[in-house]
Amino acid sequence: MKSAPWWKEATIYQIYPRSFFDSNGDGEGDLPGVTSQLDYVKNLGVDAIWLSPFYTSPNKDGGYDVANPRDVDPRFGNLDDAKELIAQAHKRNLRVIADIVPNHFSDQHEWFQAALKAGRGSKERERFHFYDANPDGTTPNNWISLFGGPSWTQVADGQFYLHLFDSSQPDLNWENPEVNADFEKTLRFWIDLGVDGFRIDVAHGLVKEDVLTNHPDPQGLSDALRLDVAMDSEVRNALLLTVPYFDRQGVHEIYRKWRKLFDSYGQREIMAVAEAWVHPPVNATRYVRADELHQVFNFDLLTAEFDSNVLFDVVERSISLNATVNALPTWALSNHDSPRVASRIGEEQARALALFVFGLPGSTYIFAGQELGLPDGQLQDSDRQDPTFFRTNGQIKGRDGARVPLPWSGDTTPFGFSTGKPWLPISQSWKDLTVESELANPKSSLHLYRNALELRKEFLVGAGGITWLESSQHGHKGDSLLSYSRGAITVVMNLSDSAVECDADGRLLIVSGGTVDARDGKKVIPARSTAWFLA
Ligand code: GLC
Ligand code: CA
Repeated sequence: MKSAPWWKEATIYQIYPRSFFDSNGDGEGDLPGVTSQLDYVKNLGVDAIWLSPFYTSPNKDGGYDVANPRDVDPRFGNLDDAKELIAQAHKRNLRVIADIVPNHFSDQHEWFQAALKAGRGSKERERFHFYDANPDGTTPNNWISLFGGPSWTQVADGQFYLHLFDSSQPDLNWENPEVNADFEKTLRFWIDLGVDGFRIDVAHGLVKEDVLTNHPDPQGLSDALRLDVAMDSEVRNALLLTVPYFDRQGVHEIYRKWRKLFDSYGQREIMAVAEAWVHPPVNATRYVRADELHQVFNFDLLTAEFDSNVLFDVVERSISLNATVNALPTWALSNHDSPRVASRIGEEQARALALFVFGLPGSTYIFAGQELGLPDGQLQDSDRQDPTFFRTNGQIKGRDGARVPLPWSGDTTPFGFSTGKPWLPISQSWKDLTVESELANPKSSLHLYRNALELRKEFLVGAGGITWLESSQHGHKGDSLLSYSRGAITVVMNLSDSAVECDADGRLLIVSGGTVDARDGKKVIPARSTAWFLA
């Protein structure tokens, strides 16, 4: 019998290379730094790493502003370092996923430089979205960038170009076949170099429609698209149905072509996961139809409250929607764009939720540092680098807090991350959160992750669907407990602030915090924790 493809229920560890490990003392993590810590990654028990961009880039948006997608930025090393990283990962049976950024290039990319020189009406400008100003001199439409401010920037001859993100990130024109040809070249380049898959940045954004049409509420739309802006969910959902530049049908044509390219590598089982923030949620399943991509991120857990109704709905919806296209869901509690889960919902809650999610079918993504229970870094405004901070005049703080480098060892900051000054400061208060100190502490978050991932492999990968457990004790809705069984395992999460009795059968395998007592034949689940029982 053919075994399931490697990515089907993989655990994937997201590395933000600049913040992982610095090999040369310049204060920024790099590819040799990642390679040097692969044993740590392997021992965590993950199946693959996803590397955020390390390509040539002026680094205006943490490398998501790519000036040459087929080379390595000198701050991260060179192509030989990339090859060595891949070889060392493969030696440890770890797959490597590269992050590809097809929605836009950096303004430093040679195509954009050529477009500036070639002038209006040129074929060089056809690779981007260049338009004349309106007769009254205003921008071609009223859209607002996702990082704040107008989506248009004017060049010397008066034309404007479209950028959904920073002005240094001109959007590519996917109507132009040259663009797809160039990206297919990039995909092949990295596959030939050894990567096993791709994370597709802004996968829902490539195709634009109605570029010259104003939106009735551009500020409302821009706020609705921001995770860090609070908004009534009905208002938000209504606005999200009106985004003119995301989730157009044409994107699926692109992924159908790419799927053929991936499949042409046969046994290599090249996979791709889409970053697609789309609405309503059912639309995400289109990206994982049989002839498109392999996975699509589910971002619900990045914002969900630690509440049993909310979490029940998120999990149930994701599993059932994906099932309609024969796909499995993906789960992520943190990434480089959102507040760290331990800061967002609390440290104990974050552990409980992680253990709850590790039992579920599908793939789990872990953002480096999450396994240590890291909170967001506390930063001064003078430390900040995220373009969002600058484009909103400091009103929105941005994402740097989640990108503070990892603490590795020793008692003083920067805790072995670098022999130099780290690009973002690491708080001295992280002393007990270093890899070294957590390895020495059997009750640490790191040990919880390692043990849980081992048990997941042993008992749960390939174990099929879940059954929600309902009873007066388990009661999956509105109560303290959320519980399911899968294969031989029963997973019980107590979301409340006091211990709760339940009648889960079996032997305790692992608990995210505290101790599980037995009382009158029942199990007592500690406050804010999750336990797994083996039947
Ligand atoms: C994605 C990336 C984010 C980046 C944006 C623009 O959302 O995850 O970090 O800023 O795309 O490329
Ligand atoms: Ca470095």
